[in-house]
Amino acid sequence: MADQTIQDGVNALIAEDIDAYLDVHEHKDMLRFLTCGSVDDGKSTLIGRLLYESHLVFDDHLAALEADSRRVGTQGGDLDFALLVDGLSAEREQGITIDVAYRFFSTERRKFIVADTPGHEQYTRNMVTGASNADAAVILVDARKGLLTQTRRHSYLVSLLGIEHVIVAINKLDLVDYSQEICNDIEAGYRELASELGIDDVTCIPISALKGDNIITASPNTPWYGGPTLLQHLETVELADRGTRSPFRMPVQWVNRPNLDFRGFSGLIVGGDIAVGDPIRALPSGKRSTVTEITTFDGPLDRAVAGQSVTIVLDDEIDVSRGDVLCTDADPPTIADQFEAHIVWMQEEELLPGRPYLLKLGATTVGATLSPPKHTVDVNTLQHLAAKTLGLNEIGVCTITTDRAIPFDPYEVNRDMGGFILIDRLTNATVGAGMLQFALRRSQNVHWQALDVTAESRGTLKGHGASVLWLTGLSGSGKSTIANRVEAQLHAQGVHTFLLDGDNVRHGLNHDLGFTDADRVENIRRIAEVTRLMADAGLVVLVSFISPFRAERQLARERAGEGRFVEIFVDTPLAEAEARDVKGLYAKARRGDLKNFTGIDSPYEAPDDPEVHIDTLAMSPDEAADVIVQRLRESGTIS
Ligand code: ADX
Repeated sequence: MADQTIQDGVNALIAEDIDAYLDVHEHKDMLRFLTCGSVDDGKSTLIGRLLYESHLVFDDHLAALEADSRRVGTQGGDLDFALLVDGLSAEREQGITIDVAYRFFSTERRKFIVADTPGHEQYTRNMVTGASNADAAVILVDARKGLLTQTRRHSYLVSLLGIEHVIVAINKLDLVDYSQEICNDIEAGYRELASELGIDDVTCIPISALKGDNIITASPNTPWYGGPTLLQHLETVELADRGTRSPFRMPVQWVNRPNLDFRGFSGLIVGGDIAVGDPIRALPSGKRSTVTEITTFDGPLDRAVAGQSVTIVLDDEIDVSRGDVLCTDADPPTIADQFEAHIVWMQEEELLPGRPYLLKLGATTVGATLSPPKHTVDVNTLQHLAAKTLGLNEIGVCTITTDRAIPFDPYEVNRDMGGFILIDRLTNATVGAGMLQFALRRSQNVHWQALDVTAESRGTLKGHGASVLWLTGLSGSGKSTIANRVEAQLHAQGVHTFLLDGDNVRHGLNHDLGFTDADRVENIRRIAEVTRLMADAGLVVLVSFISPFRAERQLARERAGEGRFVEIFVDTPLAEAEARDVKGLYAKARRGDLKNFTGIDSPYEAPDDPEVHIDTLAMSPDEAADVIVQRLRESGTIS
């Protein structure tokens, strides 16, 4: 019963509408901070105490808390603040906190948003989520244990994420007799680590979250400590002057056009400042203009700075759309389509180099593929390791190639212009987060060569259009047989064709690839590129690959160009393909002699909406070939 009441109370705090919260406390400035520590460092106790002391815990919840603490037998009658924070009883039973929880509290001087993230190794993902936008990080160290591997891990992540202020809360001081020596040792050790990681601003505070030492008021137990208490420090730590060191940047969230007489570009200024009369540039177009008006919800301004949401009006009608970036004319961001970036992988399924993902940076979303990592970073030892991919919670450095060039600044210079997330195109899940470091020169030096002979002129010469007939289906489904018959028919009619077949291409171009998910992705990526070149050459290209993943078939479709791509699902049930077993491979796979065999221990994702669906149980290969050739006629590709 009491559990439930506390949980409700805490949920109410967590669920509090952030906007309403910000409104009420609008006059104060706000610090976002992150707490890092493990289950038994006393993190929940610390947060609970901050909430308690700042009076955001309502009286009746407190009564329940006291009752509850007694019930679970807290020693010495101390309130168990951890109970207040560890909302879910299931978590409490396991003794761990999972996922990120945001909590709000405020004092006379400041309002605070705390991101509470778990300390366990496997939860790098949560920490990265909680750290976005944080100004400061409180790293808890248990005075009895000193600096641990996880302290190193948390500190590395804090530095990677660009959090400027680090507060080392040396906790549980009551259990080491408030020893100054222990504190000094921990501080010295931490400062060494911080300089290794490039963290400049470190404040060490000796505390006991349980007893309340140096949390709100200076403790009589640490007369040797002359620094601020934790809350005093949090109230005065400089707010990250994020964006103010950067030149003017504003990603356009939307084009505000209430009527024909007004057109403004709205968004949050994420860097620098801007004044009426300033020359600006819109990227990626590079068009220049001048600011004639800056308006806000509260009226017009002469000048606006990073952190403000504004609508900017320009003196001429240059073309700007959502996702573009308005920037100072004097110092624009780099525009590139190839970068080096740190990636934090956030989903169970590992990174598939070459697979098309979506990259979302501010208001811009583009297609992107990643190279295999140059190296991964062991977050515990900071060692660089060789790797082919990234698994859940792993961090690595990869080359990213985007479908089109986008404006960006290095994350180090501007978090909003250099931080991005990666999204799975089919499930829409966030699969990773990243920090752009720099553009690769290659992208600026390799240009798309404009050709005089066009696809159209080639078509005229050949007397037919170009097309990609993409046959997908299980091994032994009949793809190659059907593709052969289609090609024979077309050839007989004088159509210029070429057939790319999985078994054949894997002897040459792709002889280095096997059948892991990652190799299949790369197999199809290369075929998609080759197919596109052949289609550009004016051919009707027949492609016969299992191509088991939707994402890569979609990539092939985009490369070919929507109008030229015909997806043909050669639909043979697994039982039937296995019964035929022309190459004897199913038998081998069932015996366990062949690993990763499609349909057995490797997935096949059937097309949702193929242009042609061939049911091989109902149709002979010749009939199937007729259907496909007929389709080419209907589309006008051949006559
Ligand atoms: S794909 O999945 O990457 O598209 P692809 O079409 O190139 O596969 O190659 C499939 C052919 O390779 C099959 O028809 C079969 O003859 C052979 N093969 C060998 N091992 C495997 C395997 N583990 N899974 C599927 N096909 C395999």
